[in-house]
Amino acid sequence: MASTALLFLLLSAFCVAAAAQQRGSNISRGSSLTPTSNSYWLSPNRQYAFGFYNQGDGYYLGIFLKGIPQKTVVWTANRDDLPVPSTATLHFTSEGRLRLQTQGQQKEIANSASAYSASMLNSGNFVLYNSDGDIVWQSFDLPTDTLLPGQRLSAGKELLSSMSETNPSTGLFRLKMQNDGNLVQYPVEAPDTATYAYYASGTDGKGDNVTLNLDDEGHLYLLNTNGSNIKNITDGYNNENLYRLRIDPDGIFKLYSHDLGQNGSWSILWRSSADKCAPKGLCGVNGFCVLLDDRADCVCLPGFDFVVASNWSSGCIRNFEEDICKSKDGSTKYTMSTLDNTWWEDASYSTLSLPTQEDCEQACLEDCNCEAALFEDGSCRKQRLPLRFGRRSLSNSNILFVKVGSTEVSQQGTKKEIRTDILVISVSLASFALIILVISGVLIHRKNLWAYKKISETGNVGLTEGVALRSFTYMELEKIHGRVRGNSIPVSSVKVLR
Ligand SMILES: *[C@@H]1O[C@H](CO)[C@@H](O)[C@H](O)[C@H]1NC(C)=O
Ligand SMILES: *[C@@H]1O[C@H](CO)[C@@H](O)[C@H](O)[C@H]1NC(C)=O
Ligand SMILES: *[C@@H]1O[C@H](CO)[C@@H](O)[C@H](O)[C@H]1NC(C)=O
Ligand SMILES: *[C@@H]1O[C@H](CO)[C@@H](O)[C@H](O)[C@H]1NC(C)=O
Ligand SMILES: *[C@@H]1O[C@H](CO)[C@@H](O)[C@H](O)[C@H]1NC(C)=O
Ligand SMILES: *[C@@H]1O[C@H](CO)[C@@H](O)[C@H](O)[C@H]1NC(C)=O
Repeated sequence: MASTALLFLLLSAFCVAAAAQQRGSNISRGSSLTPTSNSYWLSPNRQYAFGFYNQGDGYYLGIFLKGIPQKTVVWTANRDDLPVPSTATLHFTSEGRLRLQTQGQQKEIANSASAYSASMLNSGNFVLYNSDGDIVWQSFDLPTDTLLPGQRLSAGKELLSSMSETNPSTGLFRLKMQNDGNLVQYPVEAPDTATYAYYASGTDGKGDNVTLNLDDEGHLYLLNTNGSNIKNITDGYNNENLYRLRIDPDGIFKLYSHDLGQNGSWSILWRSSADKCAPKGLCGVNGFCVLLDDRADCVCLPGFDFVVASNWSSGCIRNFEEDICKSKDGSTKYTMSTLDNTWWEDASYSTLSLPTQEDCEQACLEDCNCEAALFEDGSCRKQRLPLRFGRRSLSNSNILFVKVGSTEVSQQGTKKEIRTDILVISVSLASFALIILVISGVLIHRKNLWAYKKISETGNVGLTEGVALRSFTYMELEKIHGRVRGNSIPVSSVKVLR
C-alpha cells in the first residue's frame, strides 16, 4: 500500500517536472521588464525573446529573434499604438495580468483571464498558463505579419502586413485564410471579393476550417478539417534552418530561411508573386504601379502630382483647378488625357455601350460628373475620382480617358508661346530692315565718295565694312533670340513688348 502511494507520488512529481520543462522558462507573477534594463524574457534555447525592442526613438513590446545577429521581429503587441518611451514598464501583476504602464497609463497586453505563469517557448510562442498549466493566452493565436513553424493560421484569420520595415503598424495588405478554404491576398482596404484578390491558393470549396500550416522544415501547406493535406504550397527543405513566413510591407508573402551557421542571413525560398506590381493599392489613389526592370514604381494619372513624393501611399492629386465644369457659356473647358493598358477598381457610376473610344471620350467630356472613363470592348465606364488600386496591365487592352487641364493654365502656356514667336519674328524683321537700311546708306555714301575720289581701294574697305557690320548685326540678333528663348519672359512683359 505504502509503496503504491510512493510510486504515485513519484509519478506525479515526474509529470509536474516534465510539464515544467515543456513550458520552458517560467515567468512568475510580480515579474517586470523595462526597455533599458532587463528588457526581455528569453526562450530556453535562447532563440526567441519576449520584451521591448527599439524602433526609432521609442520601444515596442514584441517577440524577436535573439539567436541571430539580424534584427528580426516576429510579433508586436498593440502594433497600431505609438511606440513607448524608455520609462515604460511591463508588469506581470500579482493578479496575473500582463500590463504595459506608461506615465500613469495602463494597457492590457493579453486580453485573458488571470494567468498563473507565463513562458517564452522555444517555438517563438509566448504563452500564459492558468494554475492547472492550461494555456489561457498565446501570441500564436494573434499573429501580426509573421507565421512561425508550428503556428497555424486558422479559418477566418489573417496576417496583416506592416507599414514598413521600420514601422510595425498595420500596413496595406493582408493574407486571409478564408472560411471557404481559400487562402487569399487582398488590400487591407478592400472587401473579401475576387476582384480585389491578387493571390489565391485555389482551394475554395475544400471544406470549413481549413488551416495554413508551416513546419520546422519550411513545408507550407493547407489542412482540411479532418487533418488531410489539401495543398502543398512549398515542399519543405529538410535541414536545420530557421523558417518564417511573412507578408511583407510590399504585399507579397514570402517564406524565409536562415542558416543557423556562424554568419547566415535570411534568404527568400518562395514568394507568392514575382510581379512586384501584383499587390493592389501599392500606389495610393489616382496613381498606378509600373514595373521598371522588375522593380515596382508608381506613376500619377496624367494631370496629377504626388501628394508626398516620397510616400507612394499618399496618392496623387490634380495639379490643376477643379470646378471648371460649370462654365457660364456651357462650353467644356478641358481636354481628355489618355492612358493605355491599365487596371483599376471598377467604381463606375454609369456604363454605356458605345461603338468607338471617341464616343466614350465625348460622353465623359460632356458629363460634369465624369472625371475619367475606361473604354474596353465597346463598353464605356464613367468614373468619379479617386481611382484606386491602379496598375499597368498589358492583359487589359483598354484606354482610360482622364479629364485634365483647367484651360486657364494650359491656354496661358500656349498664348505665351505664340507671343514669344511673334516677338522673335518682329525683332528679326526689324533688324533685317535696319541692316538693309544701313547697308544701302553706306553703299550710297561710298558710291558718292567713289565718284569724287575714284580710289579703287576704298571699295574693298567699304565691302569689308559692310560684311563686318552685317555679322555684328547677326550676333546681336542671335543674342536677342537667345534671351527670348532662354529666359521665359513673363506674359505681361511680352504684352508690353508687343
Ligand atoms: C515557476 O514559478 C513558480 C512560482 O513562482 C516557482 O515556485 C517555480 O520554482 C518556477 N519553476 C521554474 C522551473 O522556474
Ligand atoms: C471528413 O471526414 C468525414 C468522416 O470521415 C467525412 O464525412 C467528411 O467528408 C470529411 N471532410 C472532408 C472535408 O474531407
Ligand atoms: C469548424 O469548426 C467549428 C468550430 O470549431 C465547428 O463548430 C464546425 O463543426 C467545424 N466544421 C467542420 C466541417 O468540421
Ligand atoms: C503534399 O506533400 C506530401 C509529402 O510531403 C504528400 O504526402 C501529400 O500528398 C501532398 N499533398 C498534396 C495535396 O499533393
Ligand atoms: C563568415 O565570417 C567569417 C569571419 O567573419 C568570414 O571570414 C567568412 O568569409 C564568412 N563566411 C561567409 C560564407 O560569409
Ligand atoms: C504615407 O501616406 C499615408 C497616407 O496618407 C500615411 O498613412 C502614412 O503615414 C504616410 N507614411 C509616411 C512614412 O509618412
